[in-house]
Amino acid sequence: MSEQTPGSAEPTFTAPGTLTPVVTDMWDKQRSWTLDAYRDAGGYQGLARAKTMSAGELVDLVKASNLRGRGGAGFPTGLKWSFLPAPDGLPRYLVVNADESEPGTCKDMPTLMANPHALVEGVAITSRAIGADRAFVYVRGEVAHAYRRLLHAIHDATDAGLLDDGFGLDGQQPLKIVAHAGAGAYICGEETALLDSLEGRRGHPRLRPPFPAVQGLYARPTVINNVETISSVPGVLTRGAAWYSSMGTERSKGHGLFSVTGHVVNPGQFEAPFGITMRELIELAGGMRPGHKLKFWVPGGSSTPIFGPEELDVPLDYESVIGAGSLLGTRALQVFDDTVSVVRVVSRWTEFYQHESCGKCTPCREGTYWMRQIMTRLEAGQGRPGDVEKLEDIAANISGRSFCALGDAAATPIASGIKRFRSEFEAGYTTPAAELFPPAASSIVNSQAQSGR
Ligand SMILES: Cc1cc2nc3c(=O)[nH]c(=O)nc-3n(C[C@H](O)[C@H](O)[C@H](O)COP(=O)(O)O)c2cc1C
Ligand code: SF4
Repeated sequence: MSEQTPGSAEPTFTAPGTLTPVVTDMWDKQRSWTLDAYRDAGGYQGLARAKTMSAGELVDLVKASNLRGRGGAGFPTGLKWSFLPAPDGLPRYLVVNADESEPGTCKDMPTLMANPHALVEGVAITSRAIGADRAFVYVRGEVAHAYRRLLHAIHDATDAGLLDDGFGLDGQQPLKIVAHAGAGAYICGEETALLDSLEGRRGHPRLRPPFPAVQGLYARPTVINNVETISSVPGVLTRGAAWYSSMGTERSKGHGLFSVTGHVVNPGQFEAPFGITMRELIELAGGMRPGHKLKFWVPGGSSTPIFGPEELDVPLDYESVIGAGSLLGTRALQVFDDTVSVVRVVSRWTEFYQHESCGKCTPCREGTYWMRQIMTRLEAGQGRPGDVEKLEDIAANISGRSFCALGDAAATPIASGIKRFRSEFEAGYTTPAAELFPPAASSIVNSQAQSGR
């Protein structure tokens, strides 16, 4: 247990929260990604059970588990599956979103690397539940090693006959799973842009309605779910809905991957019930870097409003985090200590969103460009009086006025950064961020080298 005090709220860490390794259970096993290792750990028993159940029973089971989408928004998974219209004899599809590009988010790629069969089994169960005999996994293109590992897992499961029958509208067809490598664009994680990209077009978000459940891939009914969502489905089948919903808080049930990065001693993935707190997670990560205090953190990636030490005890569930003024997002918990310039961090994030703006709508295309210009001069200590107000104005005009949520995501770090650290932004009129907060002091690589890690 760390004696470290991570912020001005005077906290000493209490006992760490309980971990609930399910998707991560076999990550440290020998060759955990192989079919043999997965089967030794009880893998594919969920699929065997699913084959004894009807599509309707499977949907009801997942509804009863209260599993919610792990791609950010937390939409109830079984409910989403139930939105598909009644079968009309033509195809329907499952698409898995493995684009994972939000800064700080790093749970789906490790899952693909360490336990790809959890996803393959989840794909098979879900395909049976929705009457699909063809499923697609859209993988972020740059992560070639994760793509290759997934290809192997699909190949091995197919070769072993696990996908031979039990799928499609009549529940008797073989299942074909296609792994598709994208070209590396954040917008292609947005589900409708993903569908455009998968169909061979440039990834631009689509107008809704029609929603993908009605007209998705190739204008056919389509379920789109995140890697972690689908990888959680086998556990629900083998251990039951009651087991799954026994974890978590009143409305955020189950377990999830909490990715802790930044200035903690041991960054990593912590699979825990919803409702664990950041204080407990920092404790599990070995505490803050020795000699430093927590300055700020984000609960769900760069697109979620900034928290400070005061929010360390907020239960990390969808409702409590919203109640405290942020979003749980993808549980990408980035921790920044007292050496960090907020201006520098927000500037990097703003560069990212400007670069990734797809250009389809004016507020985001132009606004991200303007915000980037202003952030660059504030970071350099060359800001102009009124720049902070201008940033607030631009962010307010992007947020809620853009075609898709990327615009809101770009506006959030600016608005919440200024709200919490206005004076640091105003200091950018005269003083470079690097002078106020020398980057070398924030470098994790240097501090690890110093401590011999
Ligand atoms: C700009 C943007 C990027 C997104 N990137 C991802 C992503 O990489 N992975 C993901 O699962 N969801 C991403 N989403 C959310 C998806 O649109 C969609 O809600 C999610 O895949 C649904 O899966 P779930 O119900 O299992 O959470 C993104 C949304 C937006 C607006
Ligand atoms: S908000 Fe940005 S990413 Fe989304 S459609 Fe508009 S320009 Fe494209």
